[in-house]
Amino acid sequence: MAKEYKRTLITTALPYTNGPVHIGHLAGVYIPADIYARYLRLAGRPVTMIGGSDEHGVPITLKARKEGVTPQDIVDRYHKLIKESFEGLGISFDIYSRTTSKIHSDTASEFFRRLYDKGEFIEKTSEQLYDPEAKQFLADRYVTGECPHCHNQGAYGDQCEACGTTLAATELINPKSTITGATPELRQTKHWYLPLDKWEPRLREWILEGHKEWKTNVYGQCKSWLDLGLQPRAVSRDLSWGVPVPVEGAEGKVLYVWFDAPIGYISNTKELMPDSWETWWKDPETRVINFIGKDNIVFHCIVFPAMLMAYGDNFQLPDNVPANEFLNLEGDKISTSRNWAVWLHEYLADFPGKQDVLRYVLTANAPETKDNDFTWKDFQARNNNELVAILGNFVNRVVVLTHKYYEGAVPAPGEYTQLDREMIDEMQALKASLTENLETFHFREALKDAMGFARLGNKYLQDCEPWKTVKTDPERVKTIMYLCAQLCANIAVVMEPFMPFMSEKLVKILGGVNLNWNEVGSTDIIKAGTVLGEAELLFEKIDDSAIQKQTDRLEAIKKANAMAAFQPEKVLPEVGIDDFAKLDLRIGTVLECQAVPKANKLLRFTIDDGTPSHRTIVSGIAKFYKPEELVGKQVIFIANLAPAKIRGIESQGMILSALNADGSLVVAAPSAKCTPGAQVK
Ligand code: MF3
Ligand code: ZN
Repeated sequence: MAKEYKRTLITTALPYTNGPVHIGHLAGVYIPADIYARYLRLAGRPVTMIGGSDEHGVPITLKARKEGVTPQDIVDRYHKLIKESFEGLGISFDIYSRTTSKIHSDTASEFFRRLYDKGEFIEKTSEQLYDPEAKQFLADRYVTGECPHCHNQGAYGDQCEACGTTLAATELINPKSTITGATPELRQTKHWYLPLDKWEPRLREWILEGHKEWKTNVYGQCKSWLDLGLQPRAVSRDLSWGVPVPVEGAEGKVLYVWFDAPIGYISNTKELMPDSWETWWKDPETRVINFIGKDNIVFHCIVFPAMLMAYGDNFQLPDNVPANEFLNLEGDKISTSRNWAVWLHEYLADFPGKQDVLRYVLTANAPETKDNDFTWKDFQARNNNELVAILGNFVNRVVVLTHKYYEGAVPAPGEYTQLDREMIDEMQALKASLTENLETFHFREALKDAMGFARLGNKYLQDCEPWKTVKTDPERVKTIMYLCAQLCANIAVVMEPFMPFMSEKLVKILGGVNLNWNEVGSTDIIKAGTVLGEAELLFEKIDDSAIQKQTDRLEAIKKANAMAAFQPEKVLPEVGIDDFAKLDLRIGTVLECQAVPKANKLLRFTIDDGTPSHRTIVSGIAKFYKPEELVGKQVIFIANLAPAKIRGIESQGMILSALNADGSLVVAAPSAKCTPGAQVK
């Protein structure tokens, strides 16, 4: 770190309250921010961690409309759910407030007003999309259409999610209102624009010259924005849900959600520290760090900084913006609207007491440099093979042996051997690497270093074999067990940022440890004579049935989504009755059905078609039926299809079936018993 700051203000992206929080939010923003905040607190460095709900914006009003409730109902519901589930996971916000608070609308209004009075806005009347049926202007998510860049059909009025481009609603090809489906017309309306181009030189210098240390994904996105050239951006909208634009002649207009939301960081700090908030924002000795996901980069690195520059008054710009990439779930993009997510509140209900397992897995798998994937199998494996087998196991062995040899009292050490000194050196090297990784926001690597303490402990125990030495040299064992207790105490400290619940439990087992980062690496954290508590498992194995329950749930969602998205095939060109009459459809009864050897798709049927010779049909439906399931059933088949040789078998017809939206297949059958050979017309 180039500069030693007096204090750190950590902000975490304010989640939209149009749904609960999921693992993507956690891995991208809240867990890394919490690790960093907890680390700074352990190091005795002043820190404030700001969170809160982003309660404006179109997705919330759309959700309210869909449910027939008010936007306020929606934000009340999700604000409470999100706040409580963050608490449940131990995210240590100093405040978690909301942008519908009075202090926020006052702060955001004042911010706008000051920029307005200083002449920082351009006032412009232009043509915008208007829904004549809903009688309202359409912006952002109120309108979809074709992306002018990648031609994705489902682009929104603010962004194309397929190619990531930021759009203006008027750029969409064939726009449609998401409220009524109507084709919008153009109407004149007035808005205020922040001329980002005015701030471009300062932004360039600040980021491109001054912050080359930023993560490459963040720096790269900023550079490409700056290189494209910045344009004035509208900061107001024609909507009823939001902070009203605080000037004359702005009836029916509110602040754009991306104008008011980041000001939420300021209002929440004010709410927390009414008397000293300015120190946390305006003193150059404050270091501001914004934790966000990659879709928020431009707002935090370009737009909000330009707003702060325009405001003046010494507001500090972020010193770093450690944005993460995205986390996928079982190979697919997480989506609130498609319900493709692991929701935090559901996880907490399904896995009580296992908050740290989720924290651990999401950190070990954090999408720090590229998108990453969460799978339940990996979750189980990391719990069973790492947390239980490495960390839990080490601590448990130490506590059990200390009870066995010394009735739980940590023995006084003798002189250290070469092996002991090597272990201590190793521990100090881990501390150095761990600290460096935390300072530079490399939390995955940091977690590896922290786990290194437990690995080191297991290795040390294995090398020393106290259970053998105790018979030959009991004095030596005292030193070994003393150092093992110190390793456990070190683990309690270094793991606290990652797994605070485990750390708390471990502190109790160890008879009380004062958690202090400056003592990491030390071999006298626990005093000799301290009596350890009873051995208690820090982690439990997670069995297959718990995982199966989760993967079954996802499977069901996938099916439901496929059903909802199902579009029937286009109907084929018209045919005359004569054409249809040429096809001879019949009822048949399945007499025999067998798998065709070496062909995993094929079943061979013997069908009673009313003739004494019966007929053979080969059908490619083996993936959907076990042969014995169909014996005795009736089917509909084409009786006059030209025979074809399939795998050396002559197939005399074709069995009809339907493929469902969820990928399942059903053989077409009469609704009641029919005579074999009867014609279907
Ligand atoms: N609500 C936004 C999102 O979920 C994030 C807002 S961050 C803030 O993408 F800075 F505007 F608060
Ligand atoms: Zn696109």
